[in-house]
Amino acid sequence: MSFRPLIFLLMVISATMATFAATPLPNVMPLPVATLFGSGRLAVTADFSVAVRGQDDARLREGLARFLHRTEARTGLTFVRRATGEYALTDNSTNAGLVIECTGSGSVVPILGEDESYVLDVTAGQVVLLAPTVIGALHGFETLLQLLQSDSAGWYWPVVKITDQPRFPWRGLMIDVARHWQPMEVIKRNLDGMALVKLNVLHLHLTDDQGFRIESKTFPRLHQLGSDGDFFTQTQMRELIAYAAARGIRVVPEFDIPGHATSWVVSQPELASAPGPYAIERKWGVFDPVLDPTNPQVYVLLDGFFGEMAALFPDAYIHIGGDENNGAQWSANPVIQAYIREHKLKDNAGLHAYFNTRVHAILAQYGKQLIGWDEILHPDLPAGSVIHSWRGPEGIAEATKRGFSCILSNGYYIDLCHPASVHYLNDPVPAQSSLTSEQQKLVLGGEATMWAEWVTPETIDSRIWPRTAAIAERLWSPREVRDVSDMYRRLAVVSQRLEETGLRHQSYLDPALRRLAGDGATSADLAALRTLVDLLEPVKDYRRGGQQPAANQITPLTGLADCARPDSFGARIFAAQVDALILTKTVTTANTGAIVEQLNAWKNVATQLMTGHVAQMPWFQASHLSLDALLVACDVGLEAARNLASGRTPPSGWSPIQLSKLDQVAEPHAAVELAIIPSLKQLVNAAALPTRPSAVTY
Ligand code: ACM
Repeated sequence: MSFRPLIFLLMVISATMATFAATPLPNVMPLPVATLFGSGRLAVTADFSVAVRGQDDARLREGLARFLHRTEARTGLTFVRRATGEYALTDNSTNAGLVIECTGSGSVVPILGEDESYVLDVTAGQVVLLAPTVIGALHGFETLLQLLQSDSAGWYWPVVKITDQPRFPWRGLMIDVARHWQPMEVIKRNLDGMALVKLNVLHLHLTDDQGFRIESKTFPRLHQLGSDGDFFTQTQMRELIAYAAARGIRVVPEFDIPGHATSWVVSQPELASAPGPYAIERKWGVFDPVLDPTNPQVYVLLDGFFGEMAALFPDAYIHIGGDENNGAQWSANPVIQAYIREHKLKDNAGLHAYFNTRVHAILAQYGKQLIGWDEILHPDLPAGSVIHSWRGPEGIAEATKRGFSCILSNGYYIDLCHPASVHYLNDPVPAQSSLTSEQQKLVLGGEATMWAEWVTPETIDSRIWPRTAAIAERLWSPREVRDVSDMYRRLAVVSQRLEETGLRHQSYLDPALRRLAGDGATSADLAALRTLVDLLEPVKDYRRGGQQPAANQITPLTGLADCARPDSFGARIFAAQVDALILTKTVTTANTGAIVEQLNAWKNVATQLMTGHVAQMPWFQASHLSLDALLVACDVGLEAARNLASGRTPPSGWSPIQLSKLDQVAEPHAAVELAIIPSLKQLVNAAALPTRPSAVTY
């Protein structure tokens, strides 16, 4: 007997289904301004050919080569190359699979406010990518890579027309390389991730109490004594700037002054506002050392240093920090207080403003504009400065009311371990904004901020990605794009794509867990540990310092809290299951089954860990409570599920007892917390209701 007719029939059916398939959901992030899917596809095969029309330059060719290389990696195809190794382009743009047409190059070193738009027209015969600048074309390549799809017939682009441009011109990621040093490869792979989601500013926080991370040829003792040897040489920085520029990304350096300046005064104690000596700070927090604005030598140093940095960094902006100057050394110094009186500066804030005015003049002399954190806002702040708002939602309103341009980071503090949804819905100019239209025009965009108290090169990607992709979408896509569940659907896909560029936000975990589990761990031990950490989140906000008060710059970050990742995927899946159950009209043993199964599986995980090799590891005792907490939490959930399935309302005292048990196990320990508690509370609340809720909002 032959199965051929059956196979043929299945092929016909599947082809028919393909014809009537629903409009594909784009996996693109950030979502483009306009996406119009047609029917049909453009197949991607090994003989796929490319033609460049119009502007043709090295940056475009390099971007194109990266695009083709990544397409090859995803598809397993090998495109045609010349003997010299480069991809063979065709002159025949009529028949080429991809035609790229840029009107101009755009600024070779990107600048604020460039035209980043592009139009992609995929037909069954050809992709045409049109852009006014090469930067727009680079963005178009990223969109194309995200649109690439496959089925059993092969790889293809769906027929689609995309018109796209960013909402905000300043879309950044700040990386603090001072508190924990982050070497070249970390920055480069994050630049690749940024390019993938169309972020266009890398803000490097280069100096702080804990480190001075840039080579100064004029004042070499700054980095020699202030960095433990961990700093970017100027040659390396030029390489990073070029790497960024090739991807359409600006590099904005930050030199945090006058506070957060311990690493400066290690080598220049006479420039501080209290006598030294000073040593590199190892702990986290706000510290006293601050430059002395009354000392002329401070400006001599800053003039020389900024002159040097202005030549190194091509961007028009230099970030001078300015945050969290506690004023303690100024208040304690009678000479400084006398200076404030004599110069009618009123108070320490007036002295800080005076300092900023002098720094502004120095930067202006080198053709640079000043940007600084909220605290630099003062009536004396020179016009043209940019405010970087971090302390609260009112920062933007205050800055723009006084006519200053600003960028937003309040709400984008990814180091605080909040879920992507929180950052995603945080809009620099929300629909109900109280800003006038003039004020709104002054909002340039925003930056995700990766402060580095609790990250190492091993873990940093897992704190930046994939959540920063959601922030990138907030800053690129139209304001109306706010569907959280669709964001999470696409984030899961984009997360994979980000790993493919070399980021390690997922892949760091296996070796980290093997290290935690110890050499004798079985695969069951490892699987259980993996499931556990997937249900844990590092504590949020600034609580980790309270959990690990002795931790400092040299503490290893290789524990449970470093394996746990923000925005637990496992907890989110469970939350969706609970939501679906609660919305179900008739709850039965059948539809509580999946939840019961899940809770029992987690109890088994806890038992496996308590009885397996992991329990023999020295760190385990400190984390034992996680497992007790998980067992209690699962038992509460199981009881709630049983009550729901039985249809009986439990006695009135039941739910307060269960909720209080959940509150107890919600307490963090070892700097982690169980991420399923809110869903279990929902389950208990639903079980305690006399009637089923018809709708629940979260
Ligand atoms: C800051 O977070 N201190 C700007």
